[in-house]
Amino acid sequence: MSNQLEKVKELIALREQARLGGGERRIESQHKKGKYTARERISMLLDEGSFEEIDMFVRHRSVNFGIDKESYLGDGVVTGTGTIAGRLVYVFAQDFTVFGGSLSETFAMKICKIMDQAMKMGAPVIGINDSGGARIQEGVNALAGYAEIFQRNILASGVIPQISGIFGPCAGGSVYSPALTDFNIMTRGTSYMFLTGPKVVKTVTGEDVTQEQLGGASVHATKSGVAHFAVDTEEDGLKLIRHLMSFLPQNNMEEPPLVDCEDPIDRLEDSLNDIIPDEPNRAYDMYEVIGAIIDNGEFLEVHKDYAQNIIVGFARFNGQSVGIIANQPNKMAGVLDINASRKAARFVRFCDAFNIPLVTLVDVPGFLPGTGQEYGGVILHGAKLLYAYGEATVPKVTVTLRKSYGGAYCVMSSKHLRGDVNYAWPTAEIAVMGPSGAVEVIFAKEVAASENPAATAAEKEAEYKKVFANPYNAARYGYIDDVIEPRNTRFRIIRALQQLQTKKLTNPAKKHDNLPL
Ligand code: COA
Repeated sequence: MSNQLEKVKELIALREQARLGGGERRIESQHKKGKYTARERISMLLDEGSFEEIDMFVRHRSVNFGIDKESYLGDGVVTGTGTIAGRLVYVFAQDFTVFGGSLSETFAMKICKIMDQAMKMGAPVIGINDSGGARIQEGVNALAGYAEIFQRNILASGVIPQISGIFGPCAGGSVYSPALTDFNIMTRGTSYMFLTGPKVVKTVTGEDVTQEQLGGASVHATKSGVAHFAVDTEEDGLKLIRHLMSFLPQNNMEEPPLVDCEDPIDRLEDSLNDIIPDEPNRAYDMYEVIGAIIDNGEFLEVHKDYAQNIIVGFARFNGQSVGIIANQPNKMAGVLDINASRKAARFVRFCDAFNIPLVTLVDVPGFLPGTGQEYGGVILHGAKLLYAYGEATVPKVTVTLRKSYGGAYCVMSSKHLRGDVNYAWPTAEIAVMGPSGAVEVIFAKEVAASENPAATAAEKEAEYKKVFANPYNAARYGYIDDVIEPRNTRFRIIRALQQLQTKKLTNPAKKHDNLPL
């Protein structure tokens, strides 16, 4: 065999060795836990055959505690490029079979390298996390590695989409990279995220909790909002990332991909003409409205199980990607509270950063009252949503279906926050507050002094309703551009979005904003 052939053989053998990560035994143990390996995950995520791996020959350079005697090609993270539906993405997947996927100096350098490349190319970064955290033997070099990644996450924020899959442990410092990215997808039963594990929690607070109770997918998808999506299997999670990508542009200078629309743009939905109940306090399901008006009823909901009084997610109108924000009368009457405000604000800001128009469906009785909310800072959190809508420069189309009361009227993409097209259904009620509350305040003396207070209150309520429980008072001042027939909503939104395609609006130059936190 020639010298060259020998060398080629050696290369092939090294590649084979690298592909085994921490070895057969650990791969088997990974599979036994119901988890895939880093390379299996990447090949499921990307278009078939599109993966180009880099830095396969990187090894750690630590010498502490005898770790120099054990090293693996690739050093516990698989990095490279590939395509999703033909579009370039940069990926990294932490390999739990190598030192438990723990992060070393060189491991971090590999991630930083692809992040830098992604920024130059203007392409998204997708990271799959499955790691025991900072590699303990490396000390500060591992921590420095984390911080280098965080710094890149921060600079890439709002420039390229960043998506994190959490498919295993993600504890301590490792949680902050996903926290800085745009979307976190967690697998139920096999992933968890927390700053300090159950043992430390027990020592410090005395609480007895399992890993799942402390930071499982269900906890973060319902209680903390850290996870935007919770999925049952890794296959579902990887499919979801591909689906999510279909709504997003490659970077903040591009538009999201336009897809062919076979759903008729002028499709009338008669059911919408009769969806609002006669009783103002009765709910209806906002999902029915969303499903009826978007292309093919295809809605990718974000934060589905968190703050369900507001709905946010991606859909398309005539093939154009949009972000939908809608109050849900079915949950807490669609009231705005701390969590709903944070959830919607984050979503609005994501869409605005990535040129995705906003379609807002309003039915909101106001902000949730009470000490719980006030002590929790609902003023500041509500201000986040207000701020997000006010600063957004993407096309903004708003439809008010029923209630739009008080401060919540201003917040929900009103005309005054540079709403471009604001429509209302004939059932819209736009006022400072609902009729009974208003009568209690402005006619309190008259009602108390009357011979029949109940009758007087009812009379005054009727009077109030006549003036404010309709969209025409707001339309009279031009705050509502048109009152539309509900069944025609799809067509009117599509027309509005078409008209707004060339919208150009910039905010005053500044170092950065000072969003209320
Ligand atoms: N640094 C170095 N090696 C680590 C590591 C770390 N942070 N975390 C895990 N490993 C190694 C283990 O020594 C083990 O090595 P081996 O295959 O040679 O036996 C391997 O990774 C797998 O870990 P193991 O503990 O057997 O897996 P598990 O599934 O039972 O538990 C964890 C996973 C993450 C819960 C557990 O490894 C752990 O608690 N790690 C430390 C977490 C931590 O506190 N990190 C620092 C926070 S920044």
